Amino acid sequence: MIDTKYLHLILAINKHGSLNKASKELNLTQSALSHQLKNLESLLGVELFYREKNQLLFTEAGKELRDRSEKIVEDLERLRLRMLEIREDQLKQYIHGYSKEEAKRLNDQATSVSEFLHYDSIWDNGSKILEVGCGVGAQTEIIARKNSGCQIVSIDIAEESIMQAKEKIQSQGIENVEFVIADVRTLAHEKGEVYDHIFICFLLEHLANPLEILQALKKILKPGGTITVIEGDHGSTFFYPDNKYARRAVRSQVEVQEKRGGNANIGREIYPLLDKAGFKNIEVSPRQIYVDAAKPKLVEGFIKNTFTAMIKGVMGEIVKEGIMTKSEIEQGISGLLRTAERDGVFSYTFFKGRAVK
Ligand SMILES: C[S@@+](CC[C@H](N)C(=O)[O-])C[C@H]1O[C@@H](n2cnc3c(N)ncnc32)[C@H](O)[C@@H]1O
Repeated sequence: MIDTKYLHLILAINKHGSLNKASKELNLTQSALSHQLKNLESLLGVELFYREKNQLLFTEAGKELRDRSEKIVEDLERLRLRMLEIREDQLKQYIHGYSKEEAKRLNDQATSVSEFLHYDSIWDNGSKILEVGCGVGAQTEIIARKNSGCQIVSIDIAEESIMQAKEKIQSQGIENVEFVIADVRTLAHEKGEVYDHIFICFLLEHLANPLEILQALKKILKPGGTITVIEGDHGSTFFYPDNKYARRAVRSQVEVQEKRGGNANIGREIYPLLDKAGFKNIEVSPRQIYVDAAKPKLVEGFIKNTFTAMIKGVMGEIVKEGIMTKSEIEQGISGLLRTAERDGVFSYTFFKGRAVK
């Protein structure tokens, strides 16, 4: 195999015509560069250069390698840029986006419903846990604190979110989490059955192929390893007083998410998905968040800062898709906020599934 680093050496020498200048561009000493060229010649079994009047010239083999290197390096660069483009498209697919408001919403959501979702998020000491789609680390902080004897690897596709998550976890002095930028659709950094537990929260709802993802994740779980999946289900939303625009706004969020390949009603599918993916001993428990004026923390944290904030966040998309007009969606948002008043009631159900490989 010819390492691509050699192609860059050849091209730098071609550009500068001397080892001295080429080594500067490559950030190498001249002797390190000479050494690498000798390695390459011995690897290929041909001479690539000869010297004439103090000049370094390409042999016929060297010329062929130089010409092909140029094409290969250009092709690799095009490939890299194309991958960047695909990655950006994938990021745009994610309906909630990566604004400051969304980061705040994720943290408010995790904090406000933490006791409902996580009273039983406890795994054996010494477990190696993979958290998939960690976002800004809102759930990470909770599970890391509850499982201080476990090692957690948290991944997300978005670099910006990973940076924020890292900062949050470091500032809290939490030391059992490692962050990796990765796409769950490729899991390129994973090899073998390495995890005791996999934790997923609010991610499957955004993926076009949740079943394939669960099947792929199962492969990197140790035999007998477990998985936890937490997802919402917008179809479970009800509230008082009724407001037809608020109801339409919730349905519209489901519709735009569906257009992006996701499923905002996926909570009800956790059992069938885990079952089809081949997991055993599946247990799904609905976690109803029922809010009335007697629960002021949930009124603020859940009705206003989590659920209504989520609809506000996709308002622009709903209007752009022509699903509701701006005035209709604004009335919908007012209707949702109205449920946060003294006589209002709001209910939403999350689903938490646990299963064994
Ligand atoms: C709704 S957020 C949930 C974040 C976190 N689990 C929480 O509950 O606060 C979904 C996260 O999934 C990430 N995500 C979306 N598609 C992904 C993919 N293909 N691979 C890894 N992460 C992905 C997004 O970048 C986003 O941070």
